[in-house]
Amino acid sequence: MLTVSNLSKSYGSITALQSLNFSIKKNQVYALLGPNGSGKSTTLGILLTTLKASDGDVTWSSKSKIGALLEKPCFYQYLSARDNLRITCKIKNTSEDNINWALNIVGLYPRAQDKVRTYSMGMKQRLGIAAAIVNKPDLLILDEPTNGLDPQGIAEVRAVIKDLHNKGVSIILASHLLSEVQQLCTHLCILKQGTVVFEGSFDSLTHQKVHKIEIGSSNLKELENKLQELDYVFKIVKDPNQAFLRIEFSLDRSMEDISNHLNQIGIMLNHLRVQEFDLEAHYLKLIDQ
Ligand SMILES: Nc1ncnc2c1ncn2[C@@H]1O[C@H](COP(=O)(O)OP(=O)(O)O)[C@@H](O)[C@H]1O
Ligand SMILES: [Mg+2]
Repeated sequence: MLTVSNLSKSYGSITALQSLNFSIKKNQVYALLGPNGSGKSTTLGILLTTLKASDGDVTWSSKSKIGALLEKPCFYQYLSARDNLRITCKIKNTSEDNINWALNIVGLYPRAQDKVRTYSMGMKQRLGIAAAIVNKPDLLILDEPTNGLDPQGIAEVRAVIKDLHNKGVSIILASHLLSEVQQLCTHLCILKQGTVVFEGSFDSLTHQKVHKIEIGSSNLKELENKLQELDYVFKIVKDPNQAFLRIEFSLDRSMEDISNHLNQIGIMLNHLRVQEFDLEAHYLKLIDQ
């Protein structure tokens, strides 16, 4: 759908983006993930042409109809949701035929006649999404869509995004929340101070390049010595409380290979466990915080 190449942006002396490269395909939920100030909103602004890049290109491979919600939505408080969406349609110069469809998707159809001032924050945010999709876009761009919402509001907005994705809308969303991105995205770009530190599918982010296990015996020093002799064991670290070793070894070997070998040379194991992948620790390492 689009390719970003060598995209850079400076605000005066502040460098917000440094030579970004990534590409987004149709039907992805693509997340820009990174801490505050890492350049997410700047990137979205350039995609939407509200900001001008200092260098680099955005190439659209197909012409997309775009809907966007970049900031807190702003509505006439004393008008109903429906009347607000009518105004949105006039501003966007789009037909009013999709208003009911949009209200239904965001779950506000039953409350459409109520004045917006009676709405909760979560409902206002969902009305913002309704306004963004009232032109039936095939690409929806959202900047921090759940910011400031309570857990229920967050869950409702997330459900709306999932529903739109299931209906064939491609999504680009910026978020500083790993948990949100984890629950929604298929692909992501992790930004750190305006540079890409990871780009690809969510699965490839969590895919380990080595096996990681915990392994222990009554004589850890002897165990460590024997493991060091194995060329497919890359890393051996003593657990801080000394109860076991954490080791990394080649993906073309299995846990059984190691335990069988140790059994054969007479070492009895008292602890053997796969180390679960720690997504949060991995993310924090990537953004170095
Ligand atoms: N209008 C602006 N003028 C000057 N600096 C800006 C402006 N907008 C953003 N920045 C700076 O650019 C960097 C990236 O900001 P931004 O894209 O808003 O990050 P994010 O959305 O990831 O929080 C930050 O250092 C921010 O202070
Ligand atoms: Mg931002």
